[in-house]
Amino acid sequence: MTDRNQNTLDELKKEATVALAKCETIGSLEEWRVTYLGRRGSISSVMRDLGNLDADSRRIMGKASNELKTHLQEKYEDKLQSVNSSQSENSDLSSFDVTLPGRIPMRGSVHPTTLIVREIAEAFAPMGFRVVEGPEVELDVYNFQKLNIPSDHPARDMWNSLWVEYPNEQNLQPFLLRTHTSPMQIRIMEGESPPIRVIVPGKAFRYEATDATHEWQFTQIEGLAVDKGISFADLKGTLDAFAKIIFGERRKTRFRCDFFPFVEPGAEMSIDCFKCDGHGCRVCSNTGWIEILGAGMVHPDVLRGVGYDPEVYSGFAFGMGAERISMLRHGIDDIRHFYGNDLRFLQQFSQK
Ligand code: DAH
Repeated sequence: MTDRNQNTLDELKKEATVALAKCETIGSLEEWRVTYLGRRGSISSVMRDLGNLDADSRRIMGKASNELKTHLQEKYEDKLQSVNSSQSENSDLSSFDVTLPGRIPMRGSVHPTTLIVREIAEAFAPMGFRVVEGPEVELDVYNFQKLNIPSDHPARDMWNSLWVEYPNEQNLQPFLLRTHTSPMQIRIMEGESPPIRVIVPGKAFRYEATDATHEWQFTQIEGLAVDKGISFADLKGTLDAFAKIIFGERRKTRFRCDFFPFVEPGAEMSIDCFKCDGHGCRVCSNTGWIEILGAGMVHPDVLRGVGYDPEVYSGFAFGMGAERISMLRHGIDDIRHFYGNDLRFLQQFSQK
């Protein structure tokens, strides 16, 4: 009886030892532990059966199975330690070369159009101009009529429009994607009283083919100053200061007559070419001058239209293309880059 039981223990020891040797993972070790050392495992069942033996055998077998249990427990602990340490050696962390440079996460950066808009806003801020924004879908009344451009006026041809609701007899409130930021002049003057000094950055839209200098969507910056006693000298002084801040202290400005229905007189402002200092080069098409914006004294009819008395108040307005200014500043040769969503272009403007 005792011999048979002793044989059982020997076999159990052999079997458990072979099985333990095969365990390579924490999971299989745990299974092994449950099978042999667990509450319902082999050792426990041997011990449970001790009760069926006579007193002598029970003592001998009790001792032997206790020894086996302790032995297996020790082997188990050893194996657990070695599996634990080999697992962490093979884990992702240990096969990871910590001396390699890290992967730099992709980071967005401020778009060059936003950058130039901010720069221009900062140039005007010390002169008292605050920033206002307005709707991109605009009523015909604001985009044209109140800017002195009635429905039948040929000057409408200057702005190829993307109509949302086309003007016709039934439809007296046609609207469109604004062709310029000038309608905000009207909205601001209608909403407040002088003194007014604002700049209005925003998107403008034209129905036209794209090429290196034209996009159907682009960004404009409008400016408006209205107060008592504002003269053309204020216009010149303000815009000359702006040109020097953005293009350099040495820049000269030139004003020539131009026509815009909402100003009188109207002007275009050029700066002398920063590339060739006015001698003539590719950038200035050999003229020595680069046109950068349109401007003028707010037309008396426009002032009257918003309820201002042109005998009391006067003002000046200006408008420029943000991308154009940025293109000149940075030597960008194609406006389409601003809308191409190409990281190779955009990343050149990221500020570290
Ligand atoms: N809105 C004009 C355009 O898009 C630009 C402009 C010219 C704005 C003269 C003005 C201005 O405020 O006075 O072509």
